[in-house]
Amino acid sequence: MAVNKMRSLALLSRHNAALYNVTSRPSSWWSGVEMGPPDAILGVTEAFKRDTNPKKINLGVGAYRDDNGKPFVLPSVRKAEELLISQKLDKEYLPISGNADFCKKAIGLAIGEDNPVIADGLNVTVQGISGTGALRIGSTFLSKFFPGPKVVWLPAPTWGNHVPIFKHVNMEVQQYRYYDPKTCGFNFSGALEDISKIPEGSLIMLHACAHNPTGVDPKQEQWDELSKVVKSKKLLPFFDMAYQGFASGDVTKDAYAVRKFLADGHKICLAQSFSKNMGLYGERAGAFSIVCSSKDEAARVLSQVKILIRPLYSNPPLHGSRIVTTILSNPELHAIWLKDVKGMADRIITMRSQLKHFLAKEGSVRDWTHITDQIGMFCFTGMTPDQVEKLTKEYSVYLTKDGRISVAGMASGNVEYLAHAMHQVTK
Ligand SMILES: Cc1ncc(COP(=O)(O)O)c(C=O)c1O
Repeated sequence: MAVNKMRSLALLSRHNAALYNVTSRPSSWWSGVEMGPPDAILGVTEAFKRDTNPKKINLGVGAYRDDNGKPFVLPSVRKAEELLISQKLDKEYLPISGNADFCKKAIGLAIGEDNPVIADGLNVTVQGISGTGALRIGSTFLSKFFPGPKVVWLPAPTWGNHVPIFKHVNMEVQQYRYYDPKTCGFNFSGALEDISKIPEGSLIMLHACAHNPTGVDPKQEQWDELSKVVKSKKLLPFFDMAYQGFASGDVTKDAYAVRKFLADGHKICLAQSFSKNMGLYGERAGAFSIVCSSKDEAARVLSQVKILIRPLYSNPPLHGSRIVTTILSNPELHAIWLKDVKGMADRIITMRSQLKHFLAKEGSVRDWTHITDQIGMFCFTGMTPDQVEKLTKEYSVYLTKDGRISVAGMASGNVEYLAHAMHQVTK
């Protein structure tokens, strides 16, 4: 009897072990987690920090630096913060959709405050956790509600984060031709041809200005054509506007594409970021908008966007949105900010022409015209991965493998050295 009982207990414990997989459970819960690759851009900064060469230059990260290579807090932002502190405001939660004044000012900046879309109440605009968060709200909403194919068409190449942002919500990612390596410019005919073959009713992502990583934007007449083909294919255009003001130094000029598409009757999605044009990187101020066909539709869409945001992060951060709202509402601060943006864009333009000048002085016979033709924070130099590796190993110049340099990371004190290094690896 006792033997039988022992046998059945042993059987039971073996059964439980199998049931709960106790015997095969690893010694730690996470021993099966594999090491992931470092982020392509942040990995460059890590390597830069470890380098002890006093001449080292970090051209990887897309953050503006002043001419001494230091982070730059905009004078308009400093002033707005002083004003905010003097008001002794509370720190209550924002609503799920964010700061209403901020949302109004953000969409007004992008499409023009007098745009009929706003007057007619057709835009749903919510605050996002900067541009990335805005894109994330957008991709989540589209993955659930977009009635067309669950595929997004991205320019080739595009900002690296676009791909995982859509893949994480189980959307398929496809690309249309955008950059022409032969000319280091915009492949207009290739883009038109590819877009005209996208299945009707699909979703297309467009960089509103200062395309990242190439620094190559369509000209205004080319945007007009793109608008036509996007319309004829009944595509939903999703604009990513992370650099308004950074391309030309003029926030209105940089809004051309978005405003033109609206004027042509497109119903767009829009992700905005204030990281670059207000230097609010760590404050995470951004907005996501959807233009709807009626007020009633907008109310329904907003209700669903809020339902998506609530379990994601509940409500967005306060301080950055207050800074943006203060600057965009106060005429004096607004004027200072426009100058700040122009100042940043102009310094970048100066760095581009200096780099080209010093490359010629070094004796480079390559055609570097694209350095000054391209716009915004980035320059797609056309250097090969091997040349980039040499530049980093031998000259301590850090950049992404695709040959993209953040022009904002260049300064009067290092541009000559950079030109020398670039010539040595490309001659
Ligand atoms: C094309 C593009 N979109 C969106 C973003 C989002 O930036 P953030 O989340 O810092 O506002 C960036 C930043 O580099 C970008 O280059």
